[in-house]
Amino acid sequence: MRHTDLTGKIVLITGASSGIGYATALEFAKVGARLLLCARREARLLELAKTLKETYQIDVLTLSLDVSSAEQVSTKLNAIPNDWSDIDILVNNAGMARGRDKLHEGNILDWEEMINTNIKGVLYISRQIVPRMVLRGVGHIINIGSISSHEVYPGGGVYCATKHAVRAISKTLRMELLGTNIRVSSIDPGSVETEFSLVRFRGDTEKASAVYKGMRPLSPEDVADSVLYCATCPPHVNICELRIMPTDQASVGMTHRRKEPEKTPE
Ligand SMILES: NC(=O)c1ccc[n+]([C@@H]2O[C@H](COP(=O)([O-])OP(=O)(O)OC[C@H]3O[C@@H](n4cnc5c(N)ncnc54)[C@H](OP(=O)(O)O)[C@@H]3O)[C@@H](O)[C@H]2O)c1
Repeated sequence: MRHTDLTGKIVLITGASSGIGYATALEFAKVGARLLLCARREARLLELAKTLKETYQIDVLTLSLDVSSAEQVSTKLNAIPNDWSDIDILVNNAGMARGRDKLHEGNILDWEEMINTNIKGVLYISRQIVPRMVLRGVGHIINIGSISSHEVYPGGGVYCATKHAVRAISKTLRMELLGTNIRVSSIDPGSVETEFSLVRFRGDTEKASAVYKGMRPLSPEDVADSVLYCATCPPHVNICELRIMPTDQASVGMTHRRKEPEKTPE
């Protein structure tokens, strides 16, 4: 049962062009929210917006922006129409990983991209949106962390560091916003089958599909369902951290994989 009516509430979702962000947009559309969808790939956002408007008769605004650019974030968010400026729910979802190098062999450009997107992106967007939430005394910030916000694995040092940073940001915001009525939640998933691994391995489909081989990962919809759950709890209830893993996973480095049935010779 949903406790809070989100009809007409304004929800800003970063990284809405794919995966968890895309599925989250669909979930909020189903409950009648007004959606402000952000990502760099504008064509995808426009396509999604068209589908959501037609299917659910809701208002959707798209904003093509790179969350890692402080200038773009401030210019584009300052230019949104007045009737979109009272953001009720901010879903900081845009994020990515690059490579599986050990730290002492790492590619510095990969590090910069992860740090700029995953940490600075969350900071720039939040810096822009949260002040108005504080002024209005309403709001909910939902950050998409990861089980990598809690654990580390070899080859994931910088990605895990960025997600640990997101957790630190969520925890700090929760303290600093105490008394403002603003909720701060962190959704921390394990393996989710999205474009995440394709991006990580720069389009290498073999490496990307090996990540999910023999196991059943979470779907983006599974995670979106948790986001909606947090957003629809009664206003006095704040889900602080929600760790969600596939049943086939026990920790970031421990996955149960079934053997593929052996092919019979032709
Ligand atoms: N998949 C997993 O196993 C998993 C597990 C735990 C946590 N997560 C987290 O979940 C979040 C969503 O990832 P996903 O799995 O849904 O991956 P995905 O399918 O690759 O989606 C990532 C989204 O982030 C956007 N994005 C990336 N860099 C951006 C930038 N600089 N500016 C604006 N948007 C940007 C992408 O849009 P554009 O490319 O169009 O800009 C895309 O919409 C990430 O924070 C990720 O760390 C994923």
